[in-house]
Amino acid sequence: MVGPESTEGRVVVGIDIGGSGIKGAPVDTSTGHLTRERIRLLTPHPATPQAVAGTVAELVEQIGHPGPLGVTLPAVVQHGVARTAANIDGGWVDTDAAGLLASATGRQVAVINDADAAGVAEMRFGAGRGVDGVVVMVTLGTGIGSAVFVDGRLVPNTELGHLHLHGGDAEDYAAASVREEEDLGWKEWARRVERYLQLLERLLWPDLIIVGGGVSKHAERFLPRIETRTTVVPAEMHNDAGIAGAAIFAPAG
Ligand code: BGC
Repeated sequence: MVGPESTEGRVVVGIDIGGSGIKGAPVDTSTGHLTRERIRLLTPHPATPQAVAGTVAELVEQIGHPGPLGVTLPAVVQHGVARTAANIDGGWVDTDAAGLLASATGRQVAVINDADAAGVAEMRFGAGRGVDGVVVMVTLGTGIGSAVFVDGRLVPNTELGHLHLHGGDAEDYAAASVREEEDLGWKEWARRVERYLQLLERLLWPDLIIVGGGVSKHAERFLPRIETRTTVVPAEMHNDAGIAGAAIFAPAG
């Protein structure tokens, strides 16, 4: 069983906070399916905690579904408190994100790392269903997020996108955003992702690697070019993984 069990069988709102959009929907936590189409609002700029909390409150109102919330943040989140801000406003560091969002929305709120949420959704409902041993999920997006599972249990807040690769942070070399910024072809970018996944293999010896993030929609363009010892599969839940994973973590309420 992956993640907390208390949400089993409930319809709960999951919210995924990203660099460009804040997306949310009610989720049937026994199937991972969104029960209504998701709503997306633009992330405010600068994305300060106060500004983001305002947008989340607006989103929650538009979604309309009652009850507690699960929310993702692209940061290390320990017991509801954000600890890092690699790709978000620096004001988040040491902010009690769960407390802030609870007072902004009037709901009970749990906040977790975005890649951890996506990983939990994939393990329960997607590419990692029923897989034991060590599973590493990486999300290739603006940055690189990671979620590590041992026999289905999450080791929270692994930050494997910040491993050292090619003279700097791995995410500055192999994230999906880098492909666009540096105008790399799929082949060239696949080579970078391959080097990154090989680094993960050398350090963790996983049984399975799941590649997620928006770019996993185009998995056929880069995964077949990648050679690894480990089986590498694309994520199955694509854009819904963060929202579904967030909902799983919502407080029992
Ligand atoms: C952050 C992680 C996050 C990842 C994906 C990284 O820069 O440090 O916490 O999961 O980006 O958003």
